[in-house]
Amino acid sequence: MAVRQRPFHLVVFGASGFTGQFVTEEVAREQMDPEGSSRLAWAVAGRCREKLQRVLERAAQKLGRPTLPSEVGIIICDITTPGSLDEMARQATIVLNCVGPYRFYGEPVVKACIENGTSCIDISGEPQFLELMYWKYHQKAAEKGVYIIGSSGFDSIPADMGVIYTSNKINGTLTAVESFLTINSGPEGLCIHDGTWKSAVYGFGNQNQLKKLRNQSNLKPVPIVGAKLKRRWPVSYCRELSSYSIPFLGADVSVVKRTQRYLHENLDQSPIDAASFTMTFFGQGYSHGCPIEDKKPNIRVCTQVKGPEAGYIATPIAMVQAAMTLLNDVSNLPSVGGVFTPGAAFAKTKLIDRLNKRGLEFSVISSSEV
Ligand SMILES: NC(=O)c1ccc[n+]([C@@H]2O[C@H](COP(=O)([O-])OP(=O)(O)OC[C@H]3O[C@@H](n4cnc5c(N)ncnc54)[C@H](OP(=O)(O)O)[C@@H]3O)[C@@H](O)[C@H]2O)c1
Repeated sequence: MAVRQRPFHLVVFGASGFTGQFVTEEVAREQMDPEGSSRLAWAVAGRCREKLQRVLERAAQKLGRPTLPSEVGIIICDITTPGSLDEMARQATIVLNCVGPYRFYGEPVVKACIENGTSCIDISGEPQFLELMYWKYHQKAAEKGVYIIGSSGFDSIPADMGVIYTSNKINGTLTAVESFLTINSGPEGLCIHDGTWKSAVYGFGNQNQLKKLRNQSNLKPVPIVGAKLKRRWPVSYCRELSSYSIPFLGADVSVVKRTQRYLHENLDQSPIDAASFTMTFFGQGYSHGCPIEDKKPNIRVCTQVKGPEAGYIATPIAMVQAAMTLLNDVSNLPSVGGVFTPGAAFAKTKLIDRLNKRGLEFSVISSSEV
């Protein structure tokens, strides 16, 4: 990674957003950990100073650290002003980008980061955004020696690192993995913030659906209530669920109920604290020396990644630990920079150990020769 002396190791861009506030708290928590990085210099960035100050004050109160607001930098930066993005990027080693939908807001940040020699991590759940960034910017990022690592939240760190963990735990060559996601909501259902929901809708829609969406003045983002989600869905079905539950697509809306909006101020965090997820991986492959050509796979392994609520607890943990890995485990990253998925960037690093310490637990459930 192109490491230069910059005022801040990390800058949380979009810290005033619903997810950004939790990422801000998580950076502060990382800094307070006795085994963590007390010398971490960091800042929050966004377009409204007052909102950023309030986020720092709330984090200070929550973490019992009154001096926090005076220790953290504030950078004013708006996506619509390229100069402000350059200015932010120049001050950071890594930008943690929490401003979505990435389909609309993500590219200028990637561009500014690459041009200014800054690495960038995002929590996009929009696969086509990461793919587009790869095709447009991989080469330029490599030339600059910076790492642009997308989808480093719940989407897709547990899935990506879970497959890598499974591969490391099979005594041979892993050739296939099937994974299942269980989302456990508390009695009040799952909490999905409007901003996150909007990104999911925009992120999954194709061009025609997007056109329709733009013409739908009455489309209101709605949190999904967990009743039906308590069942086990294969991961791919879970992804599709987002589009199934978009009313204007005329799909099954019975999984969606309108509930109270979860606002930053006076946030009732109980639905978040009550939730958790489990991702289970069934891997199969061939033991060392077993001929692949004419035989069925002869070894199996079942692994799990378990963690707290996906969107606003697991996501900030994953994002911040990805950033700490990028800062501290440089020799195990791909040798040149570029645009990467989390699995491609972190396969050889200690990210899984870091996540385990923070409550995203990776374990082997069973392993057998068949
Ligand atoms: N991967 C995952 O599992 C996962 C989990 C959670 C969230 N996410 C993603 O995180 C993103 C944010 O979600 P959210 O619920 O936190 O949304 P949100 O509350 O609406 O936050 C959006 C943020 O973007 C900022 N912003 C908007 N326009 C801007 C501009 N022109 N210049 C600078 N900043 C601007 C907002 O700033 P203001 O406060 O000034 O309006 C706010 O800080 C979404 O894309 C979502 O999909 C992913």
